Amino acid sequence: MSSSSSIAGYAAAALASLTAGQVEFLRALPKAELHAHLNGCIPVPTLRKLAAEHSDAASLPENVHAGIDQLQKGVVLEEIHDFFGLFPAIYALTSNPEALAEAARAVLALFLESDPEAPNGQSQAAYLELRTTPRESAHMTRRRYLETVLDEVERYPGERAALIVSLDRRMDAKVAEEVVDVAVALRNEGRRVVGVDLCGDPLAGDMKEFEGHFSKAKQAGLGVTLHIAETTENTHEDTLRLLSFKPDRLGHATFLDVDARDVVFSNKACVEICLSSNLLCKTVSSLDEHHLKHYLECNHPVAICTDDTLPFRNSLVGEYALLLAQKPLGLGLSEQEVVRVAGMSMTSRFALPTAQ
Ligand code: IMP
Ligand code: ZN
Repeated sequence: MSSSSSIAGYAAAALASLTAGQVEFLRALPKAELHAHLNGCIPVPTLRKLAAEHSDAASLPENVHAGIDQLQKGVVLEEIHDFFGLFPAIYALTSNPEALAEAARAVLALFLESDPEAPNGQSQAAYLELRTTPRESAHMTRRRYLETVLDEVERYPGERAALIVSLDRRMDAKVAEEVVDVAVALRNEGRRVVGVDLCGDPLAGDMKEFEGHFSKAKQAGLGVTLHIAETTENTHEDTLRLLSFKPDRLGHATFLDVDARDVVFSNKACVEICLSSNLLCKTVSSLDEHHLKHYLECNHPVAICTDDTLPFRNSLVGEYALLLAQKPLGLGLSEQEVVRVAGMSMTSRFALPTAQ
């Protein structure tokens, strides 16, 4: 698994434009990956292996193989809502504990093991907060799902990896409550759950229903991060309601209006920025238009992240290349500015449970 040969698109073009010295600088930079979805970051070879190993491989729906081929070639999204249709094929392959463990191991290795392309064997990330939505299946409960992923996360020391539990906006109240209760229980048992997230189709669900779940998580000492204002269709009310949950970090925060920006600036909630994701989902039309520029000008904390390396075919080093590359391939930041940005990702990590 390499960070550059398997990547394509905006991040690959930015990386290819850099000198060898600049690439080396980016690889060596200590940086935290704080926004990576497990099922969105499974390497293609692992997906193929899971398809071949599937207990009844012949019975896998045809769209699984076609789906993997498409992901390898690169998916073209007309708009963000197309994106969520990619997951059922992936989920068919990670619905039992053994396959899920294999997928989690591959994603952790992708970010944390030494990159074969790095001359000094650096890994892409100094630290990874991996997030995932626990799914119940015929083979596992939601608790078992999270224990399976935690077993893999905890193979690494606490200063390298931790888990965020995602709630999907489509979850009904009973499921969302169960997910938060399991996240809190695991944390109280000393497992390495550091936060909860809200993700999924940005227009789904009634956010009034979620307030109690996030406040319970906060009371238990978990960090809270919310995908917020991802599309122009997210309403003012939806955004302000999510901000009223007092999140520690925000995912995307692309379309904040003036009121929402005031709240974000005064709370200093770190914004997780996913440049390739926004460009490929067409929520941002060009790097020049990207809201990251505004946060940098205002010295607001941000963390540069990949979101979903599988469909977006990016890497953490590639996302940092988008900062350093000259315009129009990148934002043309100086190395000194990139060091500052990477430092912000490290200081925005959620707290580990005590005793870890
Ligand atoms: P999982 O939580 O490990 O299953 O990772 C995949 C899931 O993450 C998807 O089904 C989505 O619900 C969620 N997800 C991935 N990327 C995004 C995003 O950019 N916005 C909202 N949700 C996302
Ligand atoms: Zn995301």
